Amino acid sequence: MARVRTESLRKVFVVPPPRARRGPRGGPAPAPSRPASPTAASPQPPGAVATAPPAEGPAGARPTAAPEPDAEEPEPARRRRRARAREATRVVALDGVSLDVPSGEIFGLLGPNGAGKTTMVGILTTRVRPTEGRAWIGEDDVWRDPVRVKRHIGVVPQRPNLDFQLTAREILLFHGAYFGMSGKDRARRADELLERFQLTGRGGDLVTGYSGGMQQRLSLARAIMHEPEVLFLDEPSAGLDPQTRLLLWEIVREYNAAARTVILTTHYMDEADTLCDRIAIIDHGRVIQQGTPGPSRPPSPAATSSSSASTGIRPGCRRCSRRSPA
Ligand SMILES: Nc1ncnc2c1ncn2[C@@H]1O[C@H](COP(=O)(O)OP(=O)(O)OP(=O)(O)O)[C@@H](O)[C@H]1O
Ligand SMILES: [Mg+2]
Repeated sequence: MARVRTESLRKVFVVPPPRARRGPRGGPAPAPSRPASPTAASPQPPGAVATAPPAEGPAGARPTAAPEPDAEEPEPARRRRRARAREATRVVALDGVSLDVPSGEIFGLLGPNGAGKTTMVGILTTRVRPTEGRAWIGEDDVWRDPVRVKRHIGVVPQRPNLDFQLTAREILLFHGAYFGMSGKDRARRADELLERFQLTGRGGDLVTGYSGGMQQRLSLARAIMHEPEVLFLDEPSAGLDPQTRLLLWEIVREYNAAARTVILTTHYMDEADTLCDRIAIIDHGRVIQQGTPGPSRPPSPAATSSSSASTGIRPGCRRCSRRSPA
């Protein structure tokens, strides 16, 4: 069981202007390193350590050297280069967000496009380093002890990052192995999850042939394969058909019933109403409102944009009054 907290989280992305992405002293951009092998290109489960490509290219090939800095760069060129660096855009994605999600709660983050929801999830899941502030999963400081944190979390990212070179079952098995599950346990759990997510018949197929909704289901199955204490779902129902959405809600509820914490982002008020104990509305990187989801409305899978729907949220928690989606 793990509580999730953040304190004054701030994230400023610095985006260089397109020209500044050129090589040193305005020269051509260095050649990209050689294409990664299928394994290296595979999305890594949380905790995986990215391996740098070897310095040497394929047999006989020499690494492409970046252009040497021009030691005698003329002053006007130097001034132009410095001016370009100053043109970098600063995007304040999070502007001092403090949240406290008690253990066992389903907490929803809502807000318009670009509000900072994915950045928030990125920081809490060790993928985005905050500019200021701190975050904790249970007692562990996310950015001081990311390795410990990764053991306790599962993530469904906004954009699926499944390994297209593998079958669905292999993805689950590799994920289980990464988290130290025994061969027997991971085989049993993989089969159980394929069944639960209605993928059994396609479990041996390469994921490259999966539809968007099937990939989304597999992403969730992978995220809960190792039974993490905290589950992060970044827009889990985007692109799902109504039945699959209901299945997803049911699975999230089941998962939460074991007192596990779930943090999800969504644009759908009905989803927040149906699933969440509490929600926060985030806009321009700030929490503008927090409380329980508003008055009931029919929990139909018909999408309702959070930016257009009235939020109607109330302070407090309503764990005991959760409704059924059916
Ligand atoms: N890697 C990045 N580099 C530069 N800017 C970024 C990066 N990631 C996010 N941003 C910017 O940060 C802001 C917040 O983005 P974020 O993805 O967190 O929003 P969001 O609430 O998840 O939006 P959506 O609902 O569209 O998914 C946006 O202005 C976005 O352009
Ligand atoms: Mg997002």
